[in-house]
Amino acid sequence: MPRQSCQLRATLSPSAAERQALGRLRIGGGRRLHGIVHVAGAKNAALPIMAAAILADEPIRLDRVPCLADVETLASVLRRLGIDVHRSDDGSLSVETIDRRAFHTGYAHVRRMRASFCVLGPLLARRRRAVVSLPGGCRIGPRPVDLHLRGLAALGADLRIERGNVVAHASRLRGARIDLAGPSGTTVTGTTNVMSAAVLASGVTTITSAAVEPEIVDLGRFLNRMGARIEGLGTSTLRIHGVEQLGGADYRVIPDRIEAATLLLAGAITQGRVTVAGVEPDHLASVLDQLDAAGFQLDVESDRITLASCGPARPRDIVARPYPGMPTDLQAQWTALLALAPGTSRVVDTVFPQRFQHLAELQRLGADVRLEGANAAIRGVGELAGAPVRATDLRAGAALVLAGLAAKGETVVSGLNHLDRGYEDLDGKLARLGAEIRREEVHDMIDHRACCIPLVGPVNRNSASRAGC
Ligand code: UD1
Repeated sequence: MPRQSCQLRATLSPSAAERQALGRLRIGGGRRLHGIVHVAGAKNAALPIMAAAILADEPIRLDRVPCLADVETLASVLRRLGIDVHRSDDGSLSVETIDRRAFHTGYAHVRRMRASFCVLGPLLARRRRAVVSLPGGCRIGPRPVDLHLRGLAALGADLRIERGNVVAHASRLRGARIDLAGPSGTTVTGTTNVMSAAVLASGVTTITSAAVEPEIVDLGRFLNRMGARIEGLGTSTLRIHGVEQLGGADYRVIPDRIEAATLLLAGAITQGRVTVAGVEPDHLASVLDQLDAAGFQLDVESDRITLASCGPARPRDIVARPYPGMPTDLQAQWTALLALAPGTSRVVDTVFPQRFQHLAELQRLGADVRLEGANAAIRGVGELAGAPVRATDLRAGAALVLAGLAAKGETVVSGLNHLDRGYEDLDGKLARLGAEIRREEVHDMIDHRACCIPLVGPVNRNSASRAGC
């Protein structure tokens, strides 16, 4: 059972969230990983699919929705919008609209998770009104939403920004031609917002420069299962014939290609042999090409991939690009692997050019990595040395865990709230592959005399005073 709460009952209370932020992973590095792990459903497909359930007039049942903090956050957003979300005993997620009157999403949730913004298109299309907080920037650089708004405006929505909220209204959306190209290419969640709105617009919508990520295709298939008419999924031109209403659906979310790749990279960085099962190998083509070029043996079957190592990675140049290129959500993990590749490597991120917060933390582990212009320049070292490090965002956290698995001695990764947003039971899966990895919650840390950590809530305060801090 994953360590994250999978109850989907209530939003994390602030003190629970803070406790999670204070949690940390203690990793004894140097063990080769060996064995098989099963990959969870894709976070970035599950979130827009859950949001699109706002469009349905009948109950939705979703399989393979991962147990993640982000899924819980979105479930809380949906509940506030009058939608019942609960996890059944068989692990599936049921989503059903009970009351259609609400249309306001507060800042608290959008601040916690940008993907909450995915409710904008569905709310506008089904309830004709939406007030959704602007997500603002984040640690991986500027995250504008101008393309989302431009697309929805082209569909006839009246949009304005008021006190940090997008206030949107449309008596009926109308099909239009919309181009979603921005200065950095297309937008993934922008495509989900505009596509989800266009399915209930009158007439035909053509979206050009649409994102082609597997998660977009998955959302489109889900919408079509509910009765939408979307053509061109998986290409950059989508043609959407608007329909009057959408019904219910049973749907299984695709496997998480980022989690699968992260686990393969964990096998690679420890020079082990790891099989990821329940995956869609086609979604991982760019990753497999690079792992192959880096010297790892790969055995690819229909739904599983085995990576075997014969030494450290060979140096590589990695360029993160939109699909089918190397995902930006893997560049930090690649940086960790290449930090141990003898020779010189380079990592560039064309999607989020400022996404290099992990470099400073990797340096703390002894990596020779630095920013040169917009590139990470990496000179492989023979060994990393364990140290305390802090995850600054989700994928940076994954990179630090990978580095910790390979480092000599003990690495303590804090900032687990980031990791738990996007990886289902990462520590449990790594432990089952033979890693020495242990999660410390706040109460463990107090037991371990970590007295200088900020204290949260009355329970901890009492424990702390008992511990004489
Ligand atoms: C999604 C993923 C995230 C991934 C990213 C890129 C989800 C929930 N998140 O994020 O994990 O890292 O795709 O694959 O699916 N941009 C604009 N204007 C906009 C929107 C985006 O200029 O209106 C720019 C961004 O600054 C960025 C680029 O477009 O440089 C891509 O961003 P986008 O695809 O929108 O990322 P997200 O959808 O937020």
